[in-house]
Amino acid sequence: MQRLLIWGTGGQAGMIMSQFPHATHDVVAFVDNNSARQGSQFHGKPVISPEAAAALSPGADFDQIAIASAFFAEIRQQALSLGIPAERIAPAPTLCFACCAHLLTAGQLAELSAVPWWHHRFEILPGVVTPGVVAYKPWLLGHSLVADLKGQRALDIGAWDGPYTLEMARRGASVTGFDIQPATHSGFDAMRRVNNLDAGHICANVYNLNPEEHGTFDLVTFFGVYYHLKDPLLALSNINRVLNPGGLLLVEGAILEGAPQVDAYWAGREDVIERVRDIPMGYFVRGEYEREWSNWWVPNLACLRHWVESSGFKPLEASLVELGRRGYVVAQKISEVPLEHIVLPPALAGR
Ligand SMILES: C[S@@+](CC[C@H](N)C(=O)[O-])C[C@H]1O[C@@H](n2cnc3c(N)ncnc32)[C@H](O)[C@@H]1O
Repeated sequence: MQRLLIWGTGGQAGMIMSQFPHATHDVVAFVDNNSARQGSQFHGKPVISPEAAAALSPGADFDQIAIASAFFAEIRQQALSLGIPAERIAPAPTLCFACCAHLLTAGQLAELSAVPWWHHRFEILPGVVTPGVVAYKPWLLGHSLVADLKGQRALDIGAWDGPYTLEMARRGASVTGFDIQPATHSGFDAMRRVNNLDAGHICANVYNLNPEEHGTFDLVTFFGVYYHLKDPLLALSNINRVLNPGGLLLVEGAILEGAPQVDAYWAGREDVIERVRDIPMGYFVRGEYEREWSNWWVPNLACLRHWVESSGFKPLEASLVELGRRGYVVAQKISEVPLEHIVLPPALAGR
C-alpha cells in the first residue's frame, strides 16, 4: 500500500479523491499552504502545514507527495526547498490515470501522467476521464449544424486542455486550438498525442487573431472566454475576420440573468436584472465576479446577442443555460465587421 501526502485541498484534490485507487493507495494527510485550512480535515484526513509535512520521514511516514494544484511547479520548488527529496514528489493526476492503466498503453499512461494539472474533465480516450475541475459540456456542440463536421476547418478559441477540439476532430473537422496558454502548459499537447490527433495549436491572444497569420475557418467555438476579456467586441471582430462567409460562430459564457446565484454583489438583486431583461446591458466588473478576478464583462442575454449581431453575425439561436448562469449563442457570419468610425478622405488639393 502506497502512503500519500496530497498537497492541495481544492477542486483538483476533490477530483483526485473521486477517482482514487483505494486498493493500492492510502492518504496519510493533506498539505495546504493556507493556514486557515491547517488543523482541519479534508476527506476525513488531517490537513497539515508544509513544514509539518517536511518534518515527516519519507519512506517511514509516507511514500510520496502528490501535488494537486495548478501551481505544481511552484509547490514542487517549495517542497524541494523544505528538504523533501525530488523522487518523492509527483503530480496528483498520476493517481487517476493509474486507476485506468489497463486501458492505456505504457506511452499513453506516461503522457497523461506527466500533465501536472488538468482544467477539463473529459473522456480523453475510451473509458479514461481526465481529473479536471470543469466538466465537458456536450450541449455546447449539440446544435444540429455541428453534428457532422467532415471537411470543415474549425478554430477552438480558449481550448485549454482541448476537449472541444477533440470532439470536433472526432466529428471530422480539421481543428486548430487557440489559447494564450502554450499547449505544453495544459493537457492539450498530451491530448493530441495520445489520440494521434493532427490538430494544430496557436498560442496567441485573441486580440491578435487575424486571417493573414492564422488562416480562415468555417467554424469558430468561443466557449468560456468573452467574460475574461476587457474588450469582448474586439475579439468578436477578429473572429468575424477569420470566418469564411456563412461560417458559424458558437459562443458561450457567464450571463447576468444568473448573477444572483453565483455572485455576492448580485445576491438579492433579481428585480434589477428582471427590469433590464429586454435592454442590452453589460455589467462591468471591478474586482471580482464569481470570486474570480479575471472576469470583466457579464452581459445579459440581450446584450450578448447584440454584441454578436453588431459584429457581422445573424444569431440562429440565443438561449439561457445552466439556470440562467450562462448564455449560448449560435450565429452565422452575414457581413464583414461593421465600421467603428469613419476616417475622412483627404481634403481636395488646392483648397
Ligand atoms: C474558462 S477557460 C474556458 C475553457 C473552455 N473553452 C471551456 O469552455 O471549458 C478560458 C480559456 O480562455 C483562454 N483565454 C483567456 N483569455 C484569452 C485571450 N485573450 N486570448 C486567447 N485565449 C484566452 C484561457 O487561457 C483559457 O484556456
